[in-house]
Amino acid sequence: MTPSPSAPGSPLASRLGMTERVFAGPRARKLLATVEDGLERVEAHLAGELRMTDALADTTSRYLYQAGGKRIRPMLALLTAQLGDGVTQDVVEAASALEMTHLGSLYHDDVMDGADVRRGVPSAHAVWGNNIAILTGDLLFSRASQIMARFGERAIKLQADTFERLVLGQMHETVGPQEGEDPVAFYLQVLADKTGSLIATSARAGVVFGHGPLEFEEPMALFGEKAGVAFQLLDDVIDLSADPGETGKVPGTDLRAGVPTMPYLLLGQRSDETSVALYERIDAGVARIAEGADSGILDDDLALLRDHEATAETLRLAHEWSHAATAALDPLPAGPVREALARFARAVADRSS
Ligand code: IPE
Ligand code: IPE
Ligand code: MG
Ligand code: MG
Repeated sequence: MTPSPSAPGSPLASRLGMTERVFAGPRARKLLATVEDGLERVEAHLAGELRMTDALADTTSRYLYQAGGKRIRPMLALLTAQLGDGVTQDVVEAASALEMTHLGSLYHDDVMDGADVRRGVPSAHAVWGNNIAILTGDLLFSRASQIMARFGERAIKLQADTFERLVLGQMHETVGPQEGEDPVAFYLQVLADKTGSLIATSARAGVVFGHGPLEFEEPMALFGEKAGVAFQLLDDVIDLSADPGETGKVPGTDLRAGVPTMPYLLLGQRSDETSVALYERIDAGVARIAEGADSGILDDDLALLRDHEATAETLRLAHEWSHAATAALDPLPAGPVREALARFARAVADRSS
């Protein structure tokens, strides 16, 4: 299917940049058509599964789904399903459950990060308050579990184990490292848990639910996890350099709310005077914002951090993780699927939204 022009912010518009890059080249045309067709089926399935009899729950559950999103998790599952039976109904349903898990995590994440904008619209808690946003996230997790439960014990365990890791990642991010723990190594583990876990399961799911060869399961999970860390490192860079029109997020949201990101942590490891002073000013600004000061007081310092070597180093780290993801593809046979996965790993570490 040739992607048709679509409104900015629509799911199709949001994922166009990614699909164009993952499926570049003539050899990928057939694969693109297959994955696009699968993504349409995932959209239709999600739309059905997001129906709630309660009128408020129905509105709040659809809210962020309708606002956009790149759909990279289902895309990955549909891609790795090509190693087995292809885009079967089971694969479509499992991919929908994983996207729904991601969607639920966004409702909670925006409450925790105090983020007022998501996917270009006011975040759910900004519209309905924290309680409704949290409960909507819970509803989506329940629905995702219901879908997975239809496949039996192994699937529901995969879902639960993945969700547990994601939640612990968010919790560890909130609590921070213990005394004496290396903050950068700790943070990389947070990224692997909060983001890598679900992307790893998405890559694994295509093999599991598409009945691909058993020996590809672990390499695909490893691939997804490493690509997920690269993806999240870029998210940290985007947090600083965001063009709200492109990302649908407000620049510097995480740091202003005191949520550490990799550029900030790497800045903290530097001992030159300029870096130390910038680090201290950011900390002081975060403390003042927490006491009620305008979040704009950090605008200038966040712009300095964006152009600092610590952010360039974060980008280099993202590329390293992207290369490690590509290396995990070694056991796969050469061909368009492996090529698309390699392009996927490159695209997540080299994106602007
Ligand atoms: C945002 O994920 C949350 C993270 C784990 C970084 P995405 O960047 O995939 O969000 P959408 O689905 O495209 O909105
Ligand atoms: C989100 O991480 C991780 C999960 C939702 C599990 P971030 O808080 O860094 O992502 P954004 O920037 O809000 O999308
Ligand atoms: Mg966030
Ligand atoms: Mg967060």
